[in-house]
Amino acid sequence: MIGGLVHNTFGLKVEAARLLEYSTEEELKGFIADGKVKVPFLHVGGGSNLLFMHERYEGTVLHSKIKGMQVTGENDTEIFLRVGAGEVWDDFVAYCVQHNWYGAENLSLIPGEVGASAVQNIGAYGAEAADVIHSVEAVQLSDGEKVEIPAADCQYGYRQSRFKNEWKGQFFITHVTYRLSTTFTPRLDYGNIRAELERQGISHPTAHQVRETIIGIRRQKLPDPAVEGNAGSFFMNPVVERSLYDHIARQYDNVPHYDVDDTHVKIPAAWLIDQCGWKGRTLGRAGVHDRQPLVLVNRGGATGSDVVALCEAIRHDVSERFGITLHPEVNIV
Ligand code: EPU
Repeated sequence: MIGGLVHNTFGLKVEAARLLEYSTEEELKGFIADGKVKVPFLHVGGGSNLLFMHERYEGTVLHSKIKGMQVTGENDTEIFLRVGAGEVWDDFVAYCVQHNWYGAENLSLIPGEVGASAVQNIGAYGAEAADVIHSVEAVQLSDGEKVEIPAADCQYGYRQSRFKNEWKGQFFITHVTYRLSTTFTPRLDYGNIRAELERQGISHPTAHQVRETIIGIRRQKLPDPAVEGNAGSFFMNPVVERSLYDHIARQYDNVPHYDVDDTHVKIPAAWLIDQCGWKGRTLGRAGVHDRQPLVLVNRGGATGSDVVALCEAIRHDVSERFGITLHPEVNIV
């Protein structure tokens, strides 16, 4: 068991004291049986939703390289696809679109791996991973036993799951079984998908065209981590009391918002950050992206503490001006 560099899309140089990679469930069970998984440990996926505070992680970093996609069942309207936790998320989405299995296409080009997507419940363009997750297979740390957990027990919510909360650190996900539809139902109402398709003269798109359009929009709006390190949306969009939204709406014109329920409203964090004048700004070696202020970027040579300082400065200003506390979507370790 040796240490090594931990891949992270923020482009931070981070070394772990111990790095454990495994390609099969048996290998993972072996690590547990041999007592190699000791606290503190951290299980990572593609490192696309992580911010390391320090340059060295004094613990064990685990990473699944379990691959494979197999159809395990089908009925008149659905197909069940079992995917290894170490598969790249977008390879899974591409595979579904190629085979005419639908439901994941709006989640095209989200960075990360399959295992982490089931923890984080990744989402975009009116869809989220939980829409297509049927069940999750995991190895339980306490006894090394394999469990299969139905999606209904995973308490999926907006970027939330039981794996992130109550079950944190208890299960290592080895496979996710997705339930895809064999009939295509386009979901075009979110953001500018429909407008972008119409611009191309497409009114009845195929899933492939929806995928390509979303890839185009994402490439245009979001910075490429290979060029400028980042972890996608840094903050979650806050859900606030309707009375607070009403108060803000009396002071500002056209406050963007989505109704959550009768008493709660979601306000885009991007708008709040933009209003506070942070869009495009730099603090130390970290900055706020100039097209999507929800994304914090590494301007070159940033450390975890540069990014955290920027995060805190933004949270302070948004709280002062709007009385709203922003919460990071990125996991800070
Ligand atoms: N806005 C501004 N100024 C800007 C940009 C945006 O005020 O410079 C406001 C606009 O009003 C815009 C609103 O922010 O309508 C929301 O922006 P957008 O719809 O682009 O997306 P988002 O709500 O900021 C969420 C997800 C993204 C996902 C997009 C698209 C979260 C935290 N983020 O962002 O997910 O790609 O919707 O569906 O929910 C990620 O999780 O890493 C991620 C990128």
